[in-house]
Amino acid sequence: MFTQTHINRFQQLETPFYYYDLNLLQQTLTACAEAAYSYNYHVHYALKANFNPKVLDAIQAAGFGADCVSGNEVKAAIAHGFTNNKVVFAGVGKSDKEINAALDADIFCFNSESVQELLVINELAQAKNKIARIAIRINPNVDAHTHHHITTGLEENKFGINTWQLEEVLATLKSCSNLEFIGVHFHVGSQITNMDVFKNLCLRVNELQEWFDEQGFAIKILNVGGGLGVDYYHPESNSMCDFKTYFKIFRDYLKVKPGQEVHFELGRALVAQSASLISRVLYVKNGQKKNFLILDAGMTELIRPMLYQAYHVIENISSQSENTINYDVVGPICESTDCFRTDVQLPESKRGDLIAIRTAGAYGEVMASGYNLRDRVESVYSEVEVTQASL
Ligand code: LLP
Repeated sequence: MFTQTHINRFQQLETPFYYYDLNLLQQTLTACAEAAYSYNYHVHYALKANFNPKVLDAIQAAGFGADCVSGNEVKAAIAHGFTNNKVVFAGVGKSDKEINAALDADIFCFNSESVQELLVINELAQAKNKIARIAIRINPNVDAHTHHHITTGLEENKFGINTWQLEEVLATLKSCSNLEFIGVHFHVGSQITNMDVFKNLCLRVNELQEWFDEQGFAIKILNVGGGLGVDYYHPESNSMCDFKTYFKIFRDYLKVKPGQEVHFELGRALVAQSASLISRVLYVKNGQKKNFLILDAGMTELIRPMLYQAYHVIENISSQSENTINYDVVGPICESTDCFRTDVQLPESKRGDLIAIRTAGAYGEVMASGYNLRDRVESVYSEVEVTQASL
């Protein structure tokens, strides 16, 4: 909730900007770390969700590892103090340059997505006289029941290795002397709110483990990915995920053998609620059929509503009006799709009012673009008052 102190502060600032509630971030990290730690689970934060420097510092300080999907993310993780033995590198299209940088950094593990990629990592590791640790990303064919643009674990998706290719993968691993197989990796999708999806993933992982055993391949790391969803509809009353219930599903359904480690790659669940996009009303257009609120933020600052029809709570935080009006809340970009939502009921709004778009901490600032040669969106931070437990 934004207090008058927030509003007074925001009124002094140029908009748009991302406002980070670092206290909520710390509380979320602590809750996640405590729940994971109670089962000895390891959490690697998926940097793709948000690599804002202050966010990375807080996550590193709370003891999380880093899940990276580009050479630059690997570099950013290391620059922010994540130790190399807590950095993993995933992604369907790692370039030679990126693989070399990760080999030089001696990262913990490559999550490999194809036979061809295994051969390339082996060749590049050989040239450096190094051994690359490998987890195989397997496509478990588990439906995440989420938006089709963020579903990743079905055979029709480009990600992972399908189970019918696994024999070839094992033969390749046997023949590659510079690769060390350490585990299996899965990620079925993002913004998953139905916990049965994770249960189904566990059951599928259990089956696949049997198969690896039969082939004589010992699995040390079970990496079950990320995907835990947040409540975009109630950022105030439900500002933190139920990490205890989430991790307990894995505790109850995943068969973990002695000596095995269970790894997670959470992104959104750790950061989404801790930021809002703050913008100002530039113009109000009253029409016969529609009223438009034209903001100074658009798809260049937050593209999720336009790209995935994603819902974000939109609030006028400075209006004193008691009348409500339905507005189409739109941005300034020269594209019809630049609309945050149609028919949003808001207090009667005027030029200069402050608008908060909530739950924007994940896949918000990181997906900002310079389209229309827009300025880079700024970040503003709350003070930190809480110290965190470590993972
Ligand atoms: N691990 C892998 C292999 C992933 O591909 C992802 C996300 C994660 C972990 C982290 O997932 P999370 O815990 O954040 O759900 N831009 C989209 C989301 C794309 C997710 C991509 N992969 C959005 O705004 O909803």
